[in-house]
Amino acid sequence: MNLILLGPPGAGKGTQAKRLEDAYGLIQLSTGDMLRAAVASGSEIGQKAKEIMERGELVSDEIMIAMIRDRIQQPDCVHGFILDGFPRTTVQAEVLDAMLANMDVKIDHVIEMTVDDAALVERITGRYSCAKCGAGYHDKYQQPETDGVCDKCGSTEFSRRKDDKAETVTSRLQAYHAQTAPLLPYYKAKGVLKAVDGMADIDEVTSQIELVLEAA
Ligand code: AP5
Repeated sequence: MNLILLGPPGAGKGTQAKRLEDAYGLIQLSTGDMLRAAVASGSEIGQKAKEIMERGELVSDEIMIAMIRDRIQQPDCVHGFILDGFPRTTVQAEVLDAMLANMDVKIDHVIEMTVDDAALVERITGRYSCAKCGAGYHDKYQQPETDGVCDKCGSTEFSRRKDDKAETVTSRLQAYHAQTAPLLPYYKAKGVLKAVDGMADIDEVTSQIELVLEAA
């Protein structure tokens, strides 16, 4: 099974992708995580992407398509993948369709996660993650069981993303509405789009996604 999670920044794509990985044995392909790894490594792509990401704008289609083309052909993707953060423009969606057709692979579901813009700002500015294993948390909505200790690996080091400041969130939301939201009618026309209420709590969103996947 191959999925796309589509929604604005902070909608919960990464949170749900991690749960679906565990529950269905799928591989999460997060272009945001790939770019942050490239920035941390200081690679040429990372150097090009760093300032664009910090401004809350989209990295070029050319870079993103090359990145996903390379990753999606790795053997671990044959049992199914979850695209998280890709495609984000109509060009990316069209190239993805052609790429998958060549591989004889199809997208089974595109899951739209709907969330009000006002809630997104609170979600993003409250987000942090374990500096060691990357497990995601939130100041209010997803706290570790023991304060200051990662549930997954026991680390006490946490970090926040540089683009998670309130002013950058506004640019990221603008980019979503202008460049990514047009993908909703694109996938609706293909008959694969299903919406879930991303305003519900985290467990409830997972249940709604599971209903979509299991109804198929
Ligand atoms: P990326 O890393 O993809 O960021 P994003 O789309 O902005 O999404 P986020 O990771 O911010 O949010 P999310 O939906 O995963 O939410 P999360 O689950 O963490 O991209 C970063 C940048 O890279 C882009 O701005 C761009 O520059 C570049 N880029 C990446 N891909 C690109 C592409 N294809 N083309 C061009 N450029 C690209 O949840 C957020 C918080 O809310 C968490 O703390 C979580 O605990 C909490 N939470 C989650 N669900 C709920 C809930 N139901 N209720 C309450 N709290 C919740």
